[in-house]
Amino acid sequence: MEVRFKIIRQQTGKTPKAQTYILDIEPGNTILDCLNRIKWDLDGTLSFRKNCRNTICGSCAMRINGRSSLACKENVGNEISQGFATKNPDGVPEITVAPLGNFPVIKDLIVDMSSFWDNLESVAPYVSTAGRKIPEREFLQTPAERSQLDQTGNCIMCGACYSECNAREVNSKFVGPHALAKAYRMIADSRDNDTQNRLERYNDTESGVWGCTRCYYCNEVCPMGVDPMDQITKIKQEILAKKDASSSRTIRHRKVMIDLVKKGGWIDERKFALRVVGHNGRDLKGLLGIAPLGLRMLTKGKFPLTFEPSQGTQQVGKLITRVQNVEEKVHLETK
Ligand code: SF4
Ligand code: SF4
Ligand code: FES
Repeated sequence: MEVRFKIIRQQTGKTPKAQTYILDIEPGNTILDCLNRIKWDLDGTLSFRKNCRNTICGSCAMRINGRSSLACKENVGNEISQGFATKNPDGVPEITVAPLGNFPVIKDLIVDMSSFWDNLESVAPYVSTAGRKIPEREFLQTPAERSQLDQTGNCIMCGACYSECNAREVNSKFVGPHALAKAYRMIADSRDNDTQNRLERYNDTESGVWGCTRCYYCNEVCPMGVDPMDQITKIKQEILAKKDASSSRTIRHRKVMIDLVKKGGWIDERKFALRVVGHNGRDLKGLLGIAPLGLRMLTKGKFPLTFEPSQGTQQVGKLITRVQNVEEKVHLETK
């Protein structure tokens, strides 16, 4: 079958340009097979990374029809049957291949991954040195302890999650989903004894777990099922279990929201602002900061002067209590 490949090509600092190539291929061919065919038979100047051809090394991550994935994993037939490829009037399906997002392009489909590696390094992705000091014999783990590392250990550092991360796009301090998934791997590792310091380090509004906007894209694109956002959520739960509401506005935000919903079925916005931003009168600067907004809402009749609990508040409260009990149990079991 004939398929048109639209490749977004670029030189450093230059405007990207689309170049098209038509190949006669089998539906089972992977996108990497097709790129190889283009390079070997049609245009030797096309640049891209590859190595294992078998979804192991993570080298061939790129954007295929708008979503970040591995070129050696996705195949042409699937791109067409799932409706990802563009249908053209001439009947030749078109597959668009572009470099990963959130990375500067070096050439064509090759990106500069320096920030990706630097951010990984910033979470201290090694079992703590203190934890390794077992002089007489190797450090054994039970099968149950080792199984805690299975999911995060599958990461092949391909960068697909980083490419799609909305938080990275707007906040250059955010370390990225790959780094935080690795951070959780360290927290879950029974050999590591630096959990307390790690939680302090990851408990940062911009660079750490609270920088994540919970868009779920990292979970959606990860080719290895690492589910980085779920790992970020687990770190958040560890932090929330150890910190009280006075420790930061971010922590208060989570705790107060749950508390208010538990008591009223939904959020009493007056109390929410006072308790989270105003810290119950202890943060005067915070209160003064939101006063103009409060006044504007008041004059436009949008400030809620009263609060009515929602219907079914008791059931909502019971449900939250049950979830909290389950979370507590899971938390204790994984310790
Ligand atoms: S978490 Fe998944 S998407 Fe992100 S680098 Fe690892 S394997 Fe790739
Ligand atoms: S869920 Fe968080 S870490 Fe994952 S892509 Fe979205 S913002 Fe980034
Ligand atoms: S070439 Fe190794 S993951 Fe694709």
